[in-house]
Amino acid sequence: MHAVQNVFGGAADNYDAARPGYHEGLVGEVLRYAGPGHRTAVEVGAGTGKATVLFAAAGVEMTCVEPDPKMAQLLRANAPEVSVEVCAFEDWSPGDRPRDMLLAATSWHWTDPVRRWDLAAAALNPDGIVAIFWNPVGVIDPALHADLARVNPRDTDLASGFGVRAGDWDEAYGMWPEAELEKDPRFGDVTTVRFREEISYATADYLKLLDSTSTYRLLDPAEREKALAAVGDIVDRHGGVIHLALFTDVCLARKARPTFGPG
Ligand SMILES: C[S@@+](CC[C@H](N)C(=O)[O-])C[C@H]1O[C@@H](n2cnc3c(N)ncnc32)[C@H](O)[C@@H]1O
Repeated sequence: MHAVQNVFGGAADNYDAARPGYHEGLVGEVLRYAGPGHRTAVEVGAGTGKATVLFAAAGVEMTCVEPDPKMAQLLRANAPEVSVEVCAFEDWSPGDRPRDMLLAATSWHWTDPVRRWDLAAAALNPDGIVAIFWNPVGVIDPALHADLARVNPRDTDLASGFGVRAGDWDEAYGMWPEAELEKDPRFGDVTTVRFREEISYATADYLKLLDSTSTYRLLDPAEREKALAAVGDIVDRHGGVIHLALFTDVCLARKARPTFGPG
């Protein structure tokens, strides 16, 4: 997926207006895990700043790496206090200032799977941490979910039956980084946390949310309009409001200190 870096700019305003943010407990959890003194972060694929503003408000000194110029423009407007570098993570370097934390909010799956852990390790101080998270949603009403799935197969991943474990939505995608981190000797103390809340959208706002997702951005415009209209009809027939379970699933890991065996 890493080759497609300018998918979201075409719907940057819808993205910023309609995409949900992250659970209010996220920042405290990440900073607690990181430990005292961890105050600098590089954020990979910061988009319009939905996670950025939360960490910046907690006093984290943020460097945001975002390749899409339209997303970066909104990011600068939303978070004027952070440093923004308009490039892909693969083209960014920490220079002589490795950071305490690497954050990636709904973006790690866009980075190069071959290079990203080398780049993450190089971006971090010896006791640095990674916090990689997503905010998947699921349709709460099984009847509405079934209707959406019937009319529009692209909504089948909005599951109405939820698991209990962080990352359990990911079987079909292979994005969740826990297994890769467990295997990588440069990282340890792998921990996952799930937050859950509920969020409701009127039809028009739900269509903006869908329009900002890569699944819909990658359709040709006529097909996208048709798919969105079909979803809109269904949601309207179910009362014009859709109630979603909104998860913030986070995977944390600490850069392992090198261990030196005897002689
Ligand atoms: C789904 S959006 C997430 C944006 C934001 N972090 C959020 O939580 O709303 C994914 C973002 O990753 C960016 N992106 C895509 N490829 C990237 C890469 N190779 N390096 C860094 N960011 C990338 C996209 O431009 C987009 O803004």
